[in-house]
Amino acid sequence: MNALTSTQAVAEAAAITIPQGAVFIGGQWVEVPGGGIDVHNPATGAVIGNVPDADAETCARAMVAAREALAEWSARPAAERADFLDRLADGFEAHGEQLARLASSEIGMPLPESRAVQASLPAKVLRSTADIARGFAFEARDASGSTIVREPVGVVLGITPWNFPVHQIVAKLAPALAAGCTIVLKPAELTPLNAVFVARLCEEVGIPDGVVNLVTGAGATTGEALVRGGGYDLVSFTGSLKIGRHIGAVAGESVVRATLELGGKSPAVVLDDADLETAVRTTVKNCFVNAGQKCNAPSRLLVPAQRREEAVAIAAEAARAYVLGDPLEDATTMGPLASEVQRDKVLGFLEAARAQGATVHGGELVAEDGLFVRPAIVSDVAEDSPVVRDEVFGPVLVVLGHDGEDDAIRLANDTDYGLSAEVWSGDEARAARVARRIKAGQVRVNGVRTPPLPVSPFGGYKASGLGREMGPFALEEFLEVKAILGDPDLT
Ligand code: NAI
Ligand code: MG
Repeated sequence: MNALTSTQAVAEAAAITIPQGAVFIGGQWVEVPGGGIDVHNPATGAVIGNVPDADAETCARAMVAAREALAEWSARPAAERADFLDRLADGFEAHGEQLARLASSEIGMPLPESRAVQASLPAKVLRSTADIARGFAFEARDASGSTIVREPVGVVLGITPWNFPVHQIVAKLAPALAAGCTIVLKPAELTPLNAVFVARLCEEVGIPDGVVNLVTGAGATTGEALVRGGGYDLVSFTGSLKIGRHIGAVAGESVVRATLELGGKSPAVVLDDADLETAVRTTVKNCFVNAGQKCNAPSRLLVPAQRREEAVAIAAEAARAYVLGDPLEDATTMGPLASEVQRDKVLGFLEAARAQGATVHGGELVAEDGLFVRPAIVSDVAEDSPVVRDEVFGPVLVVLGHDGEDDAIRLANDTDYGLSAEVWSGDEARAARVARRIKAGQVRVNGVRTPPLPVSPFGGYKASGLGREMGPFALEEFLEVKAILGDPDLT
């Protein structure tokens, strides 16, 4: 197999070629024997590429390469590492359109969403992280006069999911590199091509050999081999609660740090003085980004009980307006689900809800053998039913009634998760007071969007995870702390 033939899917506009059948270790594209994993376009079912299902030996080689590169990389001044992140951001900007199209073809995300989240956002994350690293006090005196030194934690294992694949890689890569760590990346087997693209960009902009390594493969084989194989000092994982628990347990056995981002069941609290129409329409929109396959999707809409019917009607109408189709077509506002597993999971939740007597608007499977499911609004459902409690990870919004502010907060917090929340009120100060009572890592008032500078911490309370991504808090995750007592000089 030739390691450097470009994929059919991206050949046309290809400024960046996507190697096939190879992983990126120590700055080299290393061929891995064996059949590999076919990558499908979920909108059409077509095979758009193939990546290796890397074995344990290949995984171990990647860890060794990251370890060998660590001393030199971590000894560089932070400003120099930051310059590499800026160069990588240049690469994302220069090749953003190609990357967005590739990502849309892999995930099924409508192209405008892909441009924003898979190309533009990663560039911003890289640049803002570079700036944070330049201004960061890697050495400082504490109140006792001791020197506090922050050192890179070491070799990082980054395991990422398929839903916002480029962003999720960069959210680990940027702070890890800024901190002086080296990294082995293991992207989701559903969407590995964009990760290969990112590794190619790292190569293109001259990030030193071994600082960024990429191995592809299935979770149960390659992922498991990496996690069990050791050789890393921190594992940063984004994905399901089930696998997060497993990885956290393995890391705990070897007393290795784990940061876990594990999804949610986020509430949108609409108070009685809010503009109901705006709150409901915006929640529908936010919930159905990427067909609802979004860890912080506001998937539980909590409205004043006496206005529940009205809210359901508004949401159902907004849901009906979605145009499902090819993610690369301009008219499309919702693409397919990412996989058959995901489709069946979503349909299973809806079927169980109907069987329990819930009202479901929408939620139809568009074509028997396809992955398109129309967005669904679910109401008349018990607070303890699975569709209310579990992460669906699809275009399903549940509407529940509350009996006022305290009851709304009770419902908002009545979840195993705590990743994010939204609060709607005609009085922003009231909304902010309610926000303080919600147990979630991020609370948005009146639908405020992510600011242009993406540095606010993101991560979960409770079962939504451990640790934070984005901004200075992300950088801290990748640093070890040392106190030097009796140090005469602060260098
Ligand atoms: P997953 O947790 O199985 O996969 C995430 C990553 O972990 C992938 O790279 C996968 O290859 C890897 N992985 C799987 N098993 C592993 C193992 N034993 N050792 C090491 N790595 C392993 O998530 P999956 O199956 O793709 O999605 C299932 C559900 O998880 C979704 O329906 C959704 O509810 C949730 N999810 C949450 C995400 C979030 O952003 N927090 C992202 C993706 C999924
Ligand atoms: Mg899985």
